[in-house]
Amino acid sequence: MKRLKNKIAVITGAGRGIGRATAIKFAREGAQVVIAEYDTGSGKATESEILRKGQSAEFIAVDVSDESSVNHLFDDIGNRYGRVDVLVNNAGILQDSTLKKLEPEQFDRVISVNLRGVYLCTRRAGDLMREQGSGVILNASSVVAHYGNFGQTNYVAAKAGVIGMTKVWARELGKDGIRVNAVAPGFIATDMTAGIPEKILTMMAEKVPLKRMGDPEDIANAYCFLASDEARYINGAVLNVDGGVVV
Ligand SMILES: NC(=O)c1ccc[n+]([C@@H]2O[C@H](COP(=O)([O-])OP(=O)(O)OC[C@H]3O[C@@H](n4cnc5c(N)ncnc54)[C@H](O)[C@@H]3O)[C@@H](O)[C@H]2O)c1
Repeated sequence: MKRLKNKIAVITGAGRGIGRATAIKFAREGAQVVIAEYDTGSGKATESEILRKGQSAEFIAVDVSDESSVNHLFDDIGNRYGRVDVLVNNAGILQDSTLKKLEPEQFDRVISVNLRGVYLCTRRAGDLMREQGSGVILNASSVVAHYGNFGQTNYVAAKAGVIGMTKVWARELGKDGIRVNAVAPGFIATDMTAGIPEKILTMMAEKVPLKRMGDPEDIANAYCFLASDEARYINGAVLNVDGGVVV
């Protein structure tokens, strides 16, 4: 039995990394996946990969930090699909710098994609979900929201903010049959972490009780569970998927 059969699932930033793995997993579980991605090349590549297997996917270009772009995405989805069952707010960027060197533009850019983008997408998906009386919203936080991280003022502010918004929306939207949860990944091997020097990556893996970095599929599996009816009584939770980094 497919766990997401016929669900319309919008996944932001699904061109690569965790978002791509989530799109592939959701499609395999029967969802009609909307790959809502900034980068056309990778967005189309994920789309083709899923379509080749005879599963359902559609790439729609979006910049989650841009209000009119997000409005266009959800107008399009509303007109053509008429509903949204699952929204995974996965798109995110890094612009690391210590407080001393962090420029206001770098602060604003990361907040605008990683925090404001989550708000903009949830606002529009929430309208559709409220009308249909059901839905699941899943937000990408990070373990660093729990314990901070050197050089990540902007990123940690956004990821901690995502946890706060998740709790607010779980309270506000529960009565409309909408569940809202966050996932806090630990160190996951993706393009986002590919720029980190090998020595540091080894040190990071050493800090994990399971002694390895996570794979994008480890996070996709958590999203799939939370999106499915098996998680029907889970609302307002933050699920750490980190091999035990935060215990
Ligand atoms: N990789 C990790 O270790 C890790 C750990 C904790 C949290 N996370 C979070 O998980 C999410 C995915 O991480 P990842 O490692 O797969 O990242 P990634 O950089 O590999 O992929 C991010 C995707 O988001 C897209 N994107 C960026 N800006 C966008 C925008 N404005 N609009 C639409 N799409 C946009 C990118 O084009 C890319 O396809 C992010 O929110 C990240 O902060 C990752």
